Amino acid sequence: WKYSPEEIFAAGPVVPVLVINDVEKAVPLAKALMAGGIKVLEVTLRTPAAIDVIRRIAEEVPDSLIGAGTVTNAQQLKAVVDAGAKFAISPGMTADLLKAGMEAEIPLIPGISSTSDLMKGKDAGYTHMKFFPAEASGGVKAIKSISGPFPDVTFCPTGGIGPNNYNDYLSLNNVKCVGGSWLAPDDAIESGDWDRITQLAKEAVAGANV
Ligand code: 3PG
Repeated sequence: WKYSPEEIFAAGPVVPVLVINDVEKAVPLAKALMAGGIKVLEVTLRTPAAIDVIRRIAEEVPDSLIGAGTVTNAQQLKAVVDAGAKFAISPGMTADLLKAGMEAEIPLIPGISSTSDLMKGKDAGYTHMKFFPAEASGGVKAIKSISGPFPDVTFCPTGGIGPNNYNDYLSLNNVKCVGGSWLAPDDAIESGDWDRITQLAKEAVAGANV
C-alpha cells in the first residue's frame, strides 16, 4: 500500500462523496476541492463515467488522494485499482470483497451498520471501516456505543451528514473523518460553480473540530 487506511483517514477530516456524470467535470471539481483544503476525494461508482473520472483525477491531480466509492465487488475493486484509485470504499461487505480487499494493492474500507458486520470485518483483518448509512443507522449514539466493545475499530461515517452535524461525529474517539455529498452539490457540479464548491470546502475544513 502506498497509503495506509490510517493515513487516508488522517488526511480528512471531511471527505466529499462525489457523483460525477461528465468526465470533463472531474479535474476542475477536484481542483476546486483541493483549493478549499480538501485532499481526500471519493468518486462513487454510480455513474458510467466514474472509472474515467478516477483515471483523469489520478493523472491530472496527482496530489489528491483519489479514492473510489460504492465499490461492491472484487471486479469493481480491480477496475478502480487499474484506474489509479489510491483507496476503495464500500457501503457494505461480502466475504468475496473482504478477501479481495486484503489482497489488493490499495486499501479497502468496508462499510458496516451492525456489530455483526463489524466482527466479520475485524476477523478478515480490517480496522478501518465506513459506517453507513450513518444517520439512519443510529448516528452518533450508535458509533459511540460501538466504541465500548470495539475500541480498536475506527470509522468514517457517511449518509445524512452535513454542516450541522459533522462535528458531532468528529468529536467521537473512534471517528477520524466523515464523508458526505454536501461538499459538492449536484447543481454546483452541473453548472460548474467551482467557487461555491471551494467555499463549501473551506468552511467545512475551517469549522472542523479536530
Ligand atoms: C455515501 O455514499 O456515502 C452517501 O450516499 C453520502 O450520503 P449523503 O448524500 O447523505 O452525504
